Amino acid sequence: MSPAAESPTDGGVRVRVPGKINLALRVGRVREDGYHELATIFQAVSLYDDVTALPARDGITCEVLGAQAHKIGVGEDNLAWRAADLLKQAYDVSEGIHLVIDKRIPVAGGMAGGSADAAGSLLACARFWGLRISVDDLMRLGAQLGADVPFPLMGGCAIGLGKGETLTPMLSRGVYHWVLGFSASQLSTPEVFRRFDELSPSHTIPEIPDIPQDLMVALISGDPARVGERLINDLGAAACSLLPELNTTLRAGREAGCLGAIISGSGPTVAFLTQSEEAAADLGVTLSCLGIAKDIRLVTGPVGGAAFIDA
Ligand code: C5P
Repeated sequence: MSPAAESPTDGGVRVRVPGKINLALRVGRVREDGYHELATIFQAVSLYDDVTALPARDGITCEVLGAQAHKIGVGEDNLAWRAADLLKQAYDVSEGIHLVIDKRIPVAGGMAGGSADAAGSLLACARFWGLRISVDDLMRLGAQLGADVPFPLMGGCAIGLGKGETLTPMLSRGVYHWVLGFSASQLSTPEVFRRFDELSPSHTIPEIPDIPQDLMVALISGDPARVGERLINDLGAAACSLLPELNTTLRAGREAGCLGAIISGSGPTVAFLTQSEEAAADLGVTLSCLGIAKDIRLVTGPVGGAAFIDA
């Protein structure tokens, strides 16, 4: 793979990085490290955060823009900050950096927004500091920060195994039109996994879960109706049990004729698959009129992974 970052630059470096939906999320047993074995299919979608790296005298500073800025810390508790710090330590960088995160992916929404920011931070900082490091190496570093950090660097559609960080790009045909319903509430990923364990009798949980073959075939067919019927999320029941309003949201989309409705990752964002751009717009209007979800967004997938844009 070609180097992600070759030349130092005096100006800012801006990276646009996508959120994700898990089209399948199969959960297995808890491992010794506390993580669950996963088999998942990620699709990157057209809802982006921008991460800009700017000069700073020393140290790492961070700033968050957008309506959700108040929900996120700007120090060590911010995954993008930790990503910059990890890279700085690993490559013995003395120069400082200031990160500006323009946030659109919902915070704690199940779309890997924090992981996207960490991925964007790795790419922006690597270019800004002029490090010769491949995207593969950035993905390996990213996996140390969280299971979902490598995928936004890859984008497209991919199978995730292990704790979700072992990625293989997968074939997928066509463009998928989604309606996203954002919740006013947030869900904690560890809490949703814990509820999954409570709800699932241990003999029903596979040691290593399988990727659903029928969904892989459907994605290759490019037929959204086939894909919609096969969306599956083992964390869905756990997320709904913690936030019962999600049942109403899922039902509203199904009754309005979507092809498939699913909790995104550990929730609480709900993703509805539709037949076309027009069908997505119609469903968005219907759900808005019904007062379903705090906010409705139309997105498409798959889209490419983290990429440099003009700063
Ligand atoms: O890796 P990340 O920090 O994003 O994961 C957040 C939490 O979600 C983990 O600490 C763990 O509680 C849970 N998790 C899990 N199994 C996975 C991924 C995440 O139990 N495969």
